[in-house]
Amino acid sequence: MPFEEDGPIITLLEGNTPLIPSVHISKIVDCEVLFKYEGLNPTGSFKDRGMTVAITKAVRDGVSAVMCASTGNTSASAAAYAARAGLKSFVLIPEGKIALGKLAQAVMHGATVIALEGNFDQALQVAREVTSRFDVALVNSINPYRLEGQKTAAFEIVDCLMDAPDYLFIPVGNAGNITSYWMGFRQYKEAERAKKLPKLCGYQAAGAAPIVLGRVVEKPETFATAIRIGNPARWKEAEAAAQESGGFIDMVTDDEIRKAYELIAEKEGIFCEPASAASVAGLIKAKKQGKVEKGKTVVCVLTGHGLKDPDSATLNADLKIRRLPADFNVVRDYLVEVEKVGEK
Ligand code: F0G
Repeated sequence: MPFEEDGPIITLLEGNTPLIPSVHISKIVDCEVLFKYEGLNPTGSFKDRGMTVAITKAVRDGVSAVMCASTGNTSASAAAYAARAGLKSFVLIPEGKIALGKLAQAVMHGATVIALEGNFDQALQVAREVTSRFDVALVNSINPYRLEGQKTAAFEIVDCLMDAPDYLFIPVGNAGNITSYWMGFRQYKEAERAKKLPKLCGYQAAGAAPIVLGRVVEKPETFATAIRIGNPARWKEAEAAAQESGGFIDMVTDDEIRKAYELIAEKEGIFCEPASAASVAGLIKAKKQGKVEKGKTVVCVLTGHGLKDPDSATLNADLKIRRLPADFNVVRDYLVEVEKVGEK
C-alpha cells in the first residue's frame, strides 16, 4: 500500500475472503467456477478493502471528515471505518433507493445520512463539488486509494489458484472495482506471481447500462440498486480493462439477475445481494452465447452479502412461507402429506 511504514492504520481486518468452489453452476456452464465471496468482509461488501486505505489516508492527511455518494455499500463501509478512526462521515444517498441493511449500517455507525432527491450520479456530482471546496475527503472510488485497496482481491485469487483464472465475471456500477481487479492482476503478473492474465467480463444491469449502450443513462433503473448508476466515474478505465484483457462489458436483465440471485442461494448455499448476482447471470448468458469455452477456470465476484437487502429477499416470502397452527398433529400431517417426509 502506498504509505510510509510508520503511522496509524485504520482497519477492521478486511479481506482474506474465501474463494468458494461452485457445486451447481459449474455443471450448468461446464467450467470450474469459483465464487470470490466478498460479502464476508466486515461490513458485508468488497468496499471495505478500499475503505481501509482511503480512511487511513484521510487520517494521515489530518482531515476530520469524509464524504461519499453511495447506492448503499460505500456509505456503510465509509461510516464504519470513519467511526473507527474518530472521523465525521457524511453520506449522500439517492432517496428511497438504498437497501435497508445498508441504511441501518450507516445510521448505526453514526454517519450523517443525507437523502437527496435524485439518483446516484447526481449525488456523486454534489459530493465532488462539496469535497473540492471544503476540508472533507472524498472516499468514493474516484479516490485512487480506494482502488489500491480493492486490487488486493485479485492478489488473493491468484494466491489461492496459484495463477489467474481464465475469466473473471464481475458486476459493474461506478466501475471502480473492475478497474481495481485489472490493476491487481497486472501487478501480480509483472511481479511474476501469476503466469497469465484473466479475461475480465463486466456486467451492468440492462436498465442501467451506460457503458454497453455507449451513452449516459439519465434515469437508470434496476432492482439491483447497488449498480443503479447511469454515468460511471471509472467508465473509461473499465472499458480499457475489459478490452486490454480480451474480455468485454455486457448487460443482464433484472429477470436474469433475479434468477441468478435465487439460484446461488438455493443451489450453492450462498446468499449474495442482487447486484452481486449480475456476475453469475452474466456467466450463464455468456456461456449460452458461446463466449466461454468449456473446462475453463472462472471466478465470479459476489460483491455483497444478501443480508444487506432483506426487502429483495422477502419480496415473495409470503408465497413461500407455510402458515400453520402451533399444533404437532397439524405440522405432522403437513410433513407427511405435503412434504412426503417418512417416519422413523
Ligand atoms: N456490487 C455491489 C454490491 C455494489 O455495492 C457495487 C457498487 C457494485 C457491485 C459495483 O461496483 O461501483 O465499483 O463498479 N456500489 C457503490 C456504492 C456504487 O455506492 O456502494 P463498482
